[in-house]
Amino acid sequence: MTRKTIAALITFFLVSLLSTAAMATGHPQASGHSKADEKGPAILLVTFGTSIPSAQAAFANIDAQVKKAFPGMEVRWAYTSHIIRKKLAREGKLLDSPEVALAKLMDDGYSRVAVQSLHMIPGLEFHEIHTNAKRFEKMVGGFDKVFVAYPLLSSNDAMDTVVKILPAAMIPKERTPGDAVVLMGHGTHHTSDAIYSAMMYKFQNADPNIYVGTVEGHPTFDEVKALLVKKGIKKAYLLPFMSVAGDHARNDLAGDDPDSWKSMLTLAGIECVPVLKGVAEYNALVDLWIQNLKTAMKHLE
Ligand code: CO
Repeated sequence: MTRKTIAALITFFLVSLLSTAAMATGHPQASGHSKADEKGPAILLVTFGTSIPSAQAAFANIDAQVKKAFPGMEVRWAYTSHIIRKKLAREGKLLDSPEVALAKLMDDGYSRVAVQSLHMIPGLEFHEIHTNAKRFEKMVGGFDKVFVAYPLLSSNDAMDTVVKILPAAMIPKERTPGDAVVLMGHGTHHTSDAIYSAMMYKFQNADPNIYVGTVEGHPTFDEVKALLVKKGIKKAYLLPFMSVAGDHARNDLAGDDPDSWKSMLTLAGIECVPVLKGVAEYNALVDLWIQNLKTAMKHLE
């Protein structure tokens, strides 16, 4: 071996060592973008999804509000529900899962992403999105930064704000104080189900005729119904306490089947007035998700 060859080998060895070290320390250029040609940040809006076209009005509204709040920024959507994605695909509407949407953003050269969970509570779906989105940050060649913004009811302050804003935004003006307002939350077996009971407590403190019940958790419909009957309520406004007025709102809340909340309350002698608009159709409440997104943007700076 000549002296020249040995020098070349040593140089090669050193260069290899240095580049390995750069990778191991999670170099800020891991995504392969220099600051100059960097795109972004991008926004990924994540929801359970809905296949009901009129409920999609809520999503169209959020989309418009987000684009207004973040002009020129890339805004994309992902649905967590596999069933709804499959159903929509059969109609030719292709929607991505959060993971596929993140992979596409990565491929398209974005290095920072704010993921906004459009859920009401930080339940199972939120935690799954959080776990998976953060893995894209750790991936070699992945994003430099991913921040998952919070759902609507994620802190005591956020809950108090909703209690303050929701009545004026969502309850029909013709409702009198003697009329009950029943909010139908989704409910879950996840611990965050307790948020609905907390909201019931907070609403009751603000207005003793606003009630919160859930389809799949607590408080249950039976608990709410017992309170209405005990108070001698004659009329109740039924509102979905979910992002969209989808299947649960149309069938479980306001459907004509004997087991809907409307039918069961009517049977108990209470006149029911369903209001089929999701929380995300009211801009005063959409603003709260947008505030969370603004917080996320600060974390991406
Ligand atoms: Co459900």
